[in-house]
Amino acid sequence: MKKISYFLVAVLISIGFQLKAHEGMWIPMLLQQNFAEMQRMGLKLTPEQIYSVNHSSLKDAIAGLSNSPHPQGFFCSSVIVSSQGLLFTNHHCGFASVQAHSSVKHDYLKDGFWAMSKKEELPNKGLTASILVRMADVTDSIIPHLSDTMTGQQRAAVINPIISRLKKANSDNGKYNVVIKPYFAGNKYYMLVYIVYRDVRLVGAPPSSIGKFGGDTDNWMWPRQTGDFTIFRIYTAPDGSPATYSPKNVPLKPKYYLPISLNGIKEGDFAMVWGFPGRTNRYMTAPELEFRMEHYFPPLIEAFGKKLEVWKKHMNANPDVQLKYASNYAMVANSWKYFIGQMRGVKKQHVIAKKKAFDEKFTKWVSENPQRRAKYGEAMKDMTDAFHAESKTIEPLIYASLTGSQGSQLVGFAQRYSELESLLKQYKETKGKTERAKKWHQIKQMAAKMSQKLPKTYKNYDMPTDRDVFAAMTKMYFEKVPENLHPKYLDKLAKRFKDNFTALANYVFEHSHFTSEAKAKAFLANPSLKALDKDPAFILARAYTGKMMHAAQGYRAAAGKLDKGKRLFMEGIMQMEPDKVFYPDANSTLRYSYGKVEGYYPRDAVHYLFQTHLYGVMQKENPKNPEFVVPKKLIELYKKKDYGPYGQNGKQDVDFITTNDITGGNSGSPVINGNGELIGLAFDGNWEAMSGDIAYIPKLQRTIVVDVRYILFIIDKYAGDTRLIKEMTIHKSVPQPKHVEASMVASTGTN
Ligand code: ARG
Repeated sequence: MKKISYFLVAVLISIGFQLKAHEGMWIPMLLQQNFAEMQRMGLKLTPEQIYSVNHSSLKDAIAGLSNSPHPQGFFCSSVIVSSQGLLFTNHHCGFASVQAHSSVKHDYLKDGFWAMSKKEELPNKGLTASILVRMADVTDSIIPHLSDTMTGQQRAAVINPIISRLKKANSDNGKYNVVIKPYFAGNKYYMLVYIVYRDVRLVGAPPSSIGKFGGDTDNWMWPRQTGDFTIFRIYTAPDGSPATYSPKNVPLKPKYYLPISLNGIKEGDFAMVWGFPGRTNRYMTAPELEFRMEHYFPPLIEAFGKKLEVWKKHMNANPDVQLKYASNYAMVANSWKYFIGQMRGVKKQHVIAKKKAFDEKFTKWVSENPQRRAKYGEAMKDMTDAFHAESKTIEPLIYASLTGSQGSQLVGFAQRYSELESLLKQYKETKGKTERAKKWHQIKQMAAKMSQKLPKTYKNYDMPTDRDVFAAMTKMYFEKVPENLHPKYLDKLAKRFKDNFTALANYVFEHSHFTSEAKAKAFLANPSLKALDKDPAFILARAYTGKMMHAAQGYRAAAGKLDKGKRLFMEGIMQMEPDKVFYPDANSTLRYSYGKVEGYYPRDAVHYLFQTHLYGVMQKENPKNPEFVVPKKLIELYKKKDYGPYGQNGKQDVDFITTNDITGGNSGSPVINGNGELIGLAFDGNWEAMSGDIAYIPKLQRTIVVDVRYILFIIDKYAGDTRLIKEMTIHKSVPQPKHVEASMVASTGTN
């Protein structure tokens, strides 16, 4: 009897776990949705300690990184770890900043960067850190004014003024950045009030051989041994308010910062992730997924792949090019592998079949009564029609944009002269001496302004590299974009050079004014309409823009019914499953996800453990492969086992995985234990679950985390930047006697 009841309970528990998994990127102010479960899993904090608008709480330590002073979204997440505004994020999040401070002589990407005093911390123009002050559900201020019969334009005409009003009413005279976003495909609206800090300085970054160890080969993969962290510090005006860089600024006194645990982790431990996930499409229907698989991913993969190939060739041949293109290369390579992995995952995990089954369930549910038919009857059809129509326009649009206007840097540079062209044209038409003098003055002013920006524009430019990129991209445009979207000029050039795109590129680059800083500067010193109108790069840039606008129109027309279909579908499925607590797709707003430390079974008979170690770095070491070089100092520390308080049992732990649900934008998110202490930074997802942004896969999906003890080990032992260690609050409890962990035994059977 006893045994049976035990058996039953065990089955019930494991079923509960299976169903629940740890899917979901949840809304901070709705913490109660999961609070009881999080407590059961090991969370010791109170809701007030996590999210409070009245006093300081954990959420005040989480910052979104952006390059805008009024961000609508964030490229990465970060966490405050000291009373002096010290900020942890990922190495790949700080990559562009580190690169911007680097030269071949001072290559911080390669060698790392460590400020040994506050004076040495480096300002980063434009970089901002936003912290959520509060959020509110503003659905009732918006939705009652809308109806299902409105067109998208009519909806926008109603929504926009309401949003403007709400923003004004809540910004406290511009003190806060107020963002209002749709959730659940526009069935809900939430307002997010942020304080935006504008002086974010670089404090420390490991060399890429630690911060990007494993490179693109290991990217999106577990097991991993990457020290993917970089350190910034937020500065404010002396009175504590946000300010742009000034030498008078002082370190931020944060409302809250996270203490750090050196106690380590074990399988089954509770883990919470706070950050800014960018975008998921968990409620995507089968027609949309089929559309993406056939028409959306393939051109993206092809165009990105080609560009990477050309870049790589030049980067390998020249260290200067290597540094200049490192950041762009990493970004494109990351997306490229993501799309490839996603396609592969969708196939391997049979995601289309799963989506179809769900769509059918919905269709059946709708057909069951007349009210449902009236309200939701068209949703599926609207979406299917839209994707059918879009499938005719999307490929040309992607090819045209990725190989045309965004194909080469040169075309991008040339595009920036269109405003100047308008002024020059106006000048030509202007009559009267004073009027003409006024216009010319305007032209000279604009040219001077553009001239000032040139050093930044060309800092990371390598002409021979870009010329090859241009040749490859133009060839792809010529071959892949339908003829009606070919600029006449392109066809003319192709004919003239007999489809030899290298020769064509040579011609364009020889005759353009924008292939170097000096040439562009000379042009701007004496701007001429005639010269501009004869510039082959400018002619192409202008024509590409025209063709793109044309292609985009067709695409937008097809997408007309899509928003409505998606909104009604979302509303419908929430009605269909009234007992389920839904979470909204990621939209670059603050979310939390909860889960636990856990390994997984990637394929038959293979089990991945939850943790990697420094000896794993040494196992992968390869001095001949730049992705797997290990710095000498790290090898020495490894040999001496000089891990200080950061190692355990003679080993230095490096990375670990959890079941938390994250996506792009979560990079740099703190991973927090049940006591509210920092245990690591999320930095990646795993290859087996790359379709996760479309469908979460409980058994396979993992968050890859760099262990905070590895971060501190690198700061302290590798870089010797002990001043940073001193300002953090570090918890380490006395060692406990060893015993078998019940949770470990229990969790081995769940996969
Ligand atoms: N996959 C990670 C992300 O999307 C980026 C990791 C960057 N590392 C790299 N080797 N490119 O956030």
